[in-house]
This record gives sequence, structure tokens and C-alpha cells, in this order.
Amino acid sequence: MEYIKIKDANKIISKSPYLVTNPKNYKNKWNSFFQNNNKICLELGMGRGDFIINMAKKFPNINFIGLEIDDSQMVTAVNKLSSLDLPNLKLINADAMDIAEFFGKEIDTIYLTFSEPWPKKIDEKKRFTHPVYLKLYDRVFKKQKHIIMKTDNKGLFAHSLEYLSEYWYVFNVVSLDLHNDERKIESIMTDWEKKCLQDKKEIYYLDATFSG
Ligand SMILES: C[S@@+](CC[C@H](N)C(=O)[O-])C[C@H]1O[C@@H](n2cnc3c(N)ncnc32)[C@H](O)[C@@H]1O
Repeated sequence: MEYIKIKDANKIISKSPYLVTNPKNYKNKWNSFFQNNNKICLELGMGRGDFIINMAKKFPNINFIGLEIDDSQMVTAVNKLSSLDLPNLKLINADAMDIAEFFGKEIDTIYLTFSEPWPKKIDEKKRFTHPVYLKLYDRVFKKQKHIIMKTDNKGLFAHSLEYLSEYWYVFNVVSLDLHNDERKIESIMTDWEKKCLQDKKEIYYLDATFSG
């Protein structure tokens, strides 16, 4: 997908106290960095940040890290954060492919929110639930692996169910229509999700764990 580019986005986000400019320095040290022993949850491709910011507000006793490759998308998140004081939230501007450089086995949950669908077979390894990524997540998850995914893309969701089950994940929740599900599954909305709902698109949701 193509996103609008903001001039000097990199300079703008680097001034935010929420941005961690040298995440490699904190590998295996994130709990000391946050100065607590609370869980650490990571969102990959956080975009404009609504999800991770509202999660950090709602759960002050959990540490959240939002990672995003596109600095222009992050400008909006940083602007939203400028009047907030959330010691349990940090942002990283990087490629999801590099997470093992930033984290040891320290992550409790990975959120995959409206990730790029990469529909073509030739691009399948770029899907955030492809085994290439699942192997990468193994390097950063603590003992138990926990993935929560939301998407409006049926193809990506179908592939993800397949990839995760072949990788021995167990599904705790699967919903083919999150917002009309009679189980009333609680989930903070993302920026992209709000647009999908306006367009009356169904949202697919899964919560999967692997305890090994
Ligand atoms: C469709 S948007 C969804 C944004 C946000 N999660 C939401 O739901 O509003 C997908 C986001 O993933 C980001 N992204 C794509 N590939 C990435 C990668 N390899 N590493 C980190 N972020 C990535 C894009 O820049 C974009 O912001």
C-alpha cells in the first residue's frame, strides 16, 4: 500500500520522547528500561497509533511497544501523544523483520493489526503470519507465544489460520465478524479498522497461543 509522505517525518518523530532511537541497546533489557517487571506487548505495523496508544491508556500495568516502518505514519501517532504522559508506551521506527535485533525472549503478546495482505504468491513470505515470521517471533517470545490478529482481508486471514495451525498454535478465539460477534469480544479499535467499519467491511479476528 502507498501512504502519504510527510516532509522531515524522521526529524519530527525523533524529537518525541516516546521514540526509542537505539532499540538494539535495550535487547534483553526492556524491563529495566521500563523500570518494572510488567508484561511487554508489541504491535507490528502500528500505523497512526490509535490501537497501541489506547491499549497503553487502558492497561497502565502492561508495557507496550509500537513498531512501524513508515516514519510518516508515525508522525500522526507522535502528534497524538504530544499531550499524553504514558510511561508504559514506547515506539520504534523499524522493519518488523529486524525485531530479533531489538528483543531477546521478552515479549508476551504480538499484535498484528491490519497488516499488509500481500495477496500474490510471490510475496507470501512477507505476510506477518507466514512461518518465516512465526520463526522470528519464536526468538522474541517469552515461554508462551501469544498472537492477536485483526484484518479486513479474508485471504490473509485464511492463510494465517493455516500457517498458525501448521505451526501448532491453538486458537482461543476466532471470529469472522468481530463487531457483530455475539460473544462481544473486547478489542480496542485501530485507525484502519474505523475506516473499514465506515465501509461496512467485516473484521476477522484471532487470538492464538502456543505453550510448547
Ligand atoms: C494497513 S496499515 C495498518 C496500520 C495500523 N495497524 C492500523 O490498523 O491502523 C499497515 C501498516 O503496516 C506497516 N508496515 C508494513 N510493512 C511493515 C514492516 N515490514 N515493518 C513494520 N511496519 C510495516 C505500514 O507502513 C502500515 O502503517
